[in-house]
Amino acid sequence: MDNVFEVVVIGAGPGGYVSAIRASQLGLKTACVDNFINSDGKYSLGGTCLNVGCIPSKALLESSENYERVTHKFSDHGIKVKEVTLDIQAMLKRKDKIVTDFTGGIRALFKKNKVSQFDGTAQILNRTNGYYKIQIKNKDKTTLQITAKNIIIATGSNSRKIDGIEIDNKLICDNEGALSFKSVPKNLGIIGAGVIGLEMGSVWKRLGSDVKVLEALPEFLSLVDQSISKEAFKIFTKNLGLEISLNCQNIKIEIKGKKVQVTYNIEGKDHIELFDKLVISIGRVPNSNNITSKNLKLDIDNRKFIKVNDRNLTNLDNVYAIGDVVRGPMLAHKASEEGVAVAEIIAGQSPHINFDYVPWVIYTSPEIAWVGKNEKQLKDEGINYSVGQFPFIVSGRARALGETSGFVKILADKNTDLILGIHIIGPFASELIAEAVLALEFKASSEDIARIIHAHPSLSEALHEAALGVEKRSLHI
Ligand code: FAD
Ligand code: NAI
Repeated sequence: MDNVFEVVVIGAGPGGYVSAIRASQLGLKTACVDNFINSDGKYSLGGTCLNVGCIPSKALLESSENYERVTHKFSDHGIKVKEVTLDIQAMLKRKDKIVTDFTGGIRALFKKNKVSQFDGTAQILNRTNGYYKIQIKNKDKTTLQITAKNIIIATGSNSRKIDGIEIDNKLICDNEGALSFKSVPKNLGIIGAGVIGLEMGSVWKRLGSDVKVLEALPEFLSLVDQSISKEAFKIFTKNLGLEISLNCQNIKIEIKGKKVQVTYNIEGKDHIELFDKLVISIGRVPNSNNITSKNLKLDIDNRKFIKVNDRNLTNLDNVYAIGDVVRGPMLAHKASEEGVAVAEIIAGQSPHINFDYVPWVIYTSPEIAWVGKNEKQLKDEGINYSVGQFPFIVSGRARALGETSGFVKILADKNTDLILGIHIIGPFASELIAEAVLALEFKASSEDIARIIHAHPSLSEALHEAALGVEKRSLHI
């Protein structure tokens, strides 16, 4: 009976490993299967997020920002540093150590929480007497079968490819390659000015690359509130020095010796660039192939997302799906919250997730973060709203930090004052957004934030002042 489980989770990313821990906490006999193999050829838990996503990218963003500070910003503080050298190998080693500490940490968490763990690729074969049979194929070609009453599919996503272009992660890279360049490329091309393109472009630009980002759409960061994306474009191109070309059509990629040639067209004019390396970051595709055998017909939509209802249940009895492989934003915290909720549903509870208030953060410098609706969405929905906005240039803490770009913007219902959206571009926006999420979840009005005491001097005072600004009574502008 050892291999019979109440819950089997397929995938150990932030969706899968969290749901396995929660299911086990709730007393359900749980196993988790994962097939991610790292560059050393070893199985590694944590999925995209820990191995080749959130964690390594943030490690490199921090390291490269420190380099930027020491080379460009310390002198303002009266700190003169004579010879600054860059040791990329040490930087990569630090990043890799953070990753292995965390991925190893999941094994320890599984042990502590009595989650059985299997390495290999899982496929759901069939169902008899209410139990699914799952086959696990290991990299050494051994196979094993386990049985589960409930299944949580948390197989995540992988980078979207361009037809006919092979990712070798040497010259033409996806996120995995972009996190591991052994030296700083002189000319770096990036296709796609989305979240990965901007974060990875920032890293390598700060470390010395000339970075050119080619975006197909005519607008920049189309998901983001327009005044924020406008400000971001200005800062990224003027201050950071990223070259960003919008409206790039007919992009063609060819390898020319040791370089990559990219040709494209903007408003009828042809352009040609030669790069030392090219990163392709044009979105991600759900990992929904071959999760079940042909006997079981799992419903998958035409964009490859597994179809689920509002309780994350698929069309198959007792089979749930969460995270990047289902609808909604492809974010680690969204995957984890779905994982917790599904474990609780299986245990007979009635959890609830509010998808309207999933926070987004882009870890550029300055950071961009938002929750709730933006101005365009409110206009499209015909909602009357008021705006309160406060710039970091007049925040004492931002001045002390030397990070004064950007602003906080609060959108509140004109009639009820209910906060509808909070948008931030500025220092530590990733941390400030937590107050905004809390405010929206607790149905705060702008007056509520305006009446809460915020510590001085702190960046959070910008939220306070933006809230005062909704009623046109900011005190410091
Ligand atoms: P994943 O993390 O993709 O995990 C799925 C796991 O399932 C993988 O280990 C996969 O190998 C395994 N698997 C797949 N099929 C099978 C199978 N048949 N059998 C066994 N195992 C299988 N999000 C944020 O919120 N913040 C960030 O800062 C952030 N930064 C990112 C940076 C980059 C460069 C990238 C690429 C992504 C980033 N993301 C970030 C997105 C985030 O990584 C994903 O939203 C998150 O990892 C999704 O979690 P998941 O559990 O659904 O899937
Ligand atoms: P993205 O969807 O953020 O951006 C892709 C960009 O590429 C878009 O602007 C799109 O218009 C453009 N594009 C698409 N096809 C193109 C083409 N053929 N030529 C040129 N441009 C093209 O996707 P990205 O950056 O790959 O990231 C994937 C996802 O990973 C994000 O959407 C996000 O969900 C997650 N992520 C989250 C992070 C965070 O939370 N900080 C960091 C990195 C990734």
